[in-house]
Amino acid sequence: MKKVFLLSAVLVTASAFAQKQPTAWRVDSVLQLMTLEEKVGQMNQYNGFWNATGPAPEGGDAATKYQHLRNGWVGSVLNVQGVEEVRAMQRVAVEETRLGIPLIFGCDVIHGYKTLSPIPLAEAASWDLEAIAKSAHNGAEEATSYGLNWTFAPMVDISRDPRWGRIMEGAGEDPYLGSRIAEARVRGFQGEQLNDPRSMAACAKHFAGYGFSEAGRDYNTVDVSDYTLYNVIYPPFQAAKKAGVATFMNSFNTMNGIPATGNQALAELLKEDWGFEGVLVSDWGSVGEMIAHGYARNLKEAAEQAANARCDMDMESLAYVQFLASLVREGKVSESLVDDAARRVLKLKFDLGLMDDPYRYCNRPGSWEPTTSPWAADAQELAEKSAVLLKNNGILPLVKKQAIALVGPMAQEKNSPLGNWRVSSDDFTALSLYEGLVQVRGEKRMTVASGPVFLKGPISFPFEAEINTTDTSGMHAVVKAAGEAEIAILAVGEHGFHSGEARSRMSLHLPGLQEQLIREVLKVQEHVVLVLYAGRPMILPDDITEQVDAILLAWQPGTMGGPAIANLLMGKRSPSGRLPVTFPRSEGQIPLYYGAYTTGRPGPSDAVFWSHYGDGPNTPAYPFGYGLTYSTVTYAATQVKQMGDSMAVTALVKNEGKVAVDEVVQLYARDHHSRLGVQPVRRLIGFQRVTLKPGEERMMTFSVTADQLSVATSEGERMFEPGTFSFWVAPHSAAGTSASIDWK
Ligand code: NOJ
Repeated sequence: MKKVFLLSAVLVTASAFAQKQPTAWRVDSVLQLMTLEEKVGQMNQYNGFWNATGPAPEGGDAATKYQHLRNGWVGSVLNVQGVEEVRAMQRVAVEETRLGIPLIFGCDVIHGYKTLSPIPLAEAASWDLEAIAKSAHNGAEEATSYGLNWTFAPMVDISRDPRWGRIMEGAGEDPYLGSRIAEARVRGFQGEQLNDPRSMAACAKHFAGYGFSEAGRDYNTVDVSDYTLYNVIYPPFQAAKKAGVATFMNSFNTMNGIPATGNQALAELLKEDWGFEGVLVSDWGSVGEMIAHGYARNLKEAAEQAANARCDMDMESLAYVQFLASLVREGKVSESLVDDAARRVLKLKFDLGLMDDPYRYCNRPGSWEPTTSPWAADAQELAEKSAVLLKNNGILPLVKKQAIALVGPMAQEKNSPLGNWRVSSDDFTALSLYEGLVQVRGEKRMTVASGPVFLKGPISFPFEAEINTTDTSGMHAVVKAAGEAEIAILAVGEHGFHSGEARSRMSLHLPGLQEQLIREVLKVQEHVVLVLYAGRPMILPDDITEQVDAILLAWQPGTMGGPAIANLLMGKRSPSGRLPVTFPRSEGQIPLYYGAYTTGRPGPSDAVFWSHYGDGPNTPAYPFGYGLTYSTVTYAATQVKQMGDSMAVTALVKNEGKVAVDEVVQLYARDHHSRLGVQPVRRLIGFQRVTLKPGEERMMTFSVTADQLSVATSEGERMFEPGTFSFWVAPHSAAGTSASIDWK
């Protein structure tokens, strides 16, 4: 009897009458029906037993989880694949639990669902905010059609350490670019309205500091100053919050001594100071990991710490579901915190429209093919815009009739270009570079050879990708093909499974036998074009960089990478990507980033006493913002003048060449003296991506306000201090002429 009454009470919240009520009213009307255990249940998230994206916790067997689901002790699940499975699980939540509250289905839709765009770091290299937003929107459209309504993206962690494998998932090293991209991605995933069945809730992660793990080793300690937090790490999170992101995720790491998941000060900053009203979810098992950190004695204490740090949802630690209700009864966690968390989760369910129609996101199962996917054209376009031309002595673009040898481990690869952060796409569904070249130039006068086997065995998400360093068979075939052709296109790089979560690397050199392979090819062929596949900045030895004719950085370009890179090689489009992260010359320089502070001894000087290395230069191989095109774009001197309350910074930019190009015009500033805290030698404060026809010149104008030049103090207050500023309108962070002005 009771069940019938309560169920109908919840259904009232979905009635036409209730739909007219404010969401807060509807949330409260559900909350007041709930037992403590049911409220805690809303704070519990389980993996959906298929694809694990983390280690399985103890006691998380399917039978227990299903029982918990029936008890109403599960608020959300992740990694459930396919409409049938989503519907089946939702049916249990809606029809078999006391209150019938639907589940939210989460998934890592990082750069697409089945149709994959380039990896996020590559997308960032496009500096094309509309295209990036569209890519996120496409991912949402595809994922929601499979029943999902919450993505754990975007990752907005700034990182300056390419050893860290997850650098591939972010927008690079710069807080300004990172913030604009964070906004674009949130806008893309969430659309105009969360209850649009083609949009999904986004998640700004990982709060906070994850990208600053010591030595680039994943999950490692993070120790950063408040000054760095407020000026570098927090801005993209603040931008995501302002863009209306529905959820945040904690990070695994300790930050300044306290695990982020149990860090009350961080939660207060997010929920009080910034006024974030959405859901804060833990990372996978990060509540339980506070035991390994040496912060909690046991899982119960971890639950207490996380709940008191206002972590609203426990992803796969099984900590809340087991202990939170007793912790409340024992007075260790206030019930008001549980109410607040459950309210946030319920509100999200209302906002997503799930309370009105729990099955609304399940509308399109069916077969999937890369070439017929409605999102393939956009994925290809973005792959074309993301690739970065690092070197070209004029060999590119290629001419159709040249005899080419397409060689190297990435030449025919159909899996690696997808990257590894793809919970749902089918393996080996990327169009390879070979397929792309066949499509764009035809098969004539093209030989193909992959060379020595790259990996020792099959690869998969949970295991290390082991590299062949000894078996050279296949090398000879590559050298022969390269020697007989007019040009060798050498497709090399790291595998998609070499970057991503838990995939930190000590060496940024090409793994395996590839450097040897390139040198062998260079012995027989003087025209070599390197196509570099990577999920992070990589290092090419000087002799290789000097001898090859061209280097095109393809990143892991996604499903349509093959045709995209082929289009660029064949000159159907001029490369326009710009590095969102510095490429060092040596691992010993890390962290190396353009927005560094000057030192007291910037040098150079004849004596040894300046800030430098005795065995190599300070400068990078390729600076932030760098990238070439098939034309020459010149920049006239930067000018600055006061216009009322702001400054107008201008420069005339001209396409001197014979092909149309997309140029990413970048605006950097330097604040010469600041008592709020020393300032970077350069700081990106604006950019515009413009198309320039052959011979076209354009006056680029940026209006700069005091706000754009403000600095956050260590207490988090943003202030502007008048003084001398320099500006550069430049093609990258190490180029351009500056103009200075006194801002009174
Ligand atoms: C762990 C990762 O750190 C996080 O980014 C991801 O969203 C979760 N696993 C869920 O897969």
